[in-house]
Amino acid sequence: MKILTIGGGAREHAAIEALARCDVEIYAVMKNTNPGIKARAKKILNCGESDVDTICDFAIENQIEYAFVGPEAPLSAGVVDALENIGIKCASPTQAAARIETSKTFMRNLVQNHNIEGNLGFKSCETADEAIEYVKNAPYDFAVKPVGLTGGKGVKVMGDQLKTIDDAIDYINEIFDGNVGGGKVIIEEKAVGEEFTQMVFTNGSEIIPMPLVQDHKRAYEGDEGPNTGGMGSYSDADHLLPFVTEEDRAKALSIVESIVKALAEEGCPYRGTMYGQFMLTKDGPKIIEINARFGDPEAMNVLTLITSDFSEVIKWMSGGKIKNDVTFANKATVCKYIVPTGYGVRSESGHTITVDIDGIKNAGAIAYYGSIDEKEDGTLVTGTSRSIGVVGAGDTLEDAERNCEAALGYIKCDAIYIRHDIGTAALIQKRVDHMKQLRGQ
Ligand code: AMP
Ligand code: GLY
Repeated sequence: MKILTIGGGAREHAAIEALARCDVEIYAVMKNTNPGIKARAKKILNCGESDVDTICDFAIENQIEYAFVGPEAPLSAGVVDALENIGIKCASPTQAAARIETSKTFMRNLVQNHNIEGNLGFKSCETADEAIEYVKNAPYDFAVKPVGLTGGKGVKVMGDQLKTIDDAIDYINEIFDGNVGGGKVIIEEKAVGEEFTQMVFTNGSEIIPMPLVQDHKRAYEGDEGPNTGGMGSYSDADHLLPFVTEEDRAKALSIVESIVKALAEEGCPYRGTMYGQFMLTKDGPKIIEINARFGDPEAMNVLTLITSDFSEVIKWMSGGKIKNDVTFANKATVCKYIVPTGYGVRSESGHTITVDIDGIKNAGAIAYYGSIDEKEDGTLVTGTSRSIGVVGAGDTLEDAERNCEAALGYIKCDAIYIRHDIGTAALIQKRVDHMKQLRGQ
């Protein structure tokens, strides 16, 4: 089986490590030279990850049978549509189906029109004046979001990044003036609670759930600072989270399943990995966002745990049959991202980074390379995005966190930052207590 992967980040490296355990030949397209992906691929192509024509030429040249897309930008550029046109089976959504992520207005309207649970109040605004008028009299506390893609960094929430209505107005003007995320705005009701991620595999009609994960979007320890793509994440051995019950999880899964069904009814069936980001509120899970791909870092938690043949899952998502149940090890994982100093505001990139892979392995962890470029002489240099995800696994969260911390010591660079609080007992207890307080327990 010849499979083409698109993307050069840690999420894609994790997918490729899972595929490398199967009987496949990997061909990888990425803008950087990710050393982890390079080591596993039969052939790599360095080019823009949304450069559809170049990617199709590479696929034809190498007689690719299946493709899997990691990041959202190529999905938005229609890479799946183009690959399907030349007969390649894709385990990722078409441009039309990917609107579930690429347009927050499309997502909220779909959920509303199909009477799916978990929606929040929202107002899509075509002009700055309309958005400003709305926030001045909004019936709820709100989040201001560009409608299109912003790499996970475009959301500002009242009471967090926005302190006053004037801050919200300034941000609305900034989005329209700077054409941020397509230059349109959606105002959403602010949900209060604890966030969790429910990802599923889908073939367009059925879903296969993955373990729950909690990401940490804020840049600094104690959940302070700007929103980022995600600074780290954890998952528990029972595939729930310490503050999420079976019932909460069933509700989230039913919402994701209804969205898959709704997309099929709308004539744009969705195949691939679907990512549901939920806020668990006192009234149950509410939709924060739906993404058309694996979460990053969440992919690293679940793909470290997958015990099934991942290539079979890829085949099934692209329309084939599946022979066996998809299974994940009953272990806890803690992932901490090493990021360049200043990440989230202004990254300091171009620093040499050294990685002792054996040391990391012996510590009970695994490292997935992200925004790292391998130079011709083998030197590894940091890029502007998240550098390396380190995932510790263990029987308990405590073990997983300890293993992750031990492994981090085997990576050296003079301009990096890590949120060491992720996965610690103290931070997890804070989440549990917050949820108990909201539920009046
Ligand atoms: P997103 O990129 O949509 O996941 O948003 C980034 C972060 O902003 C989320 O992980 C939440 O912490 C926060 N956020 C987004 N939308 C809302 C909302 N409607 N209510 C409360 N917080 C939100
Ligand atoms: N971790 C959040 C995302 O991938 O969008």
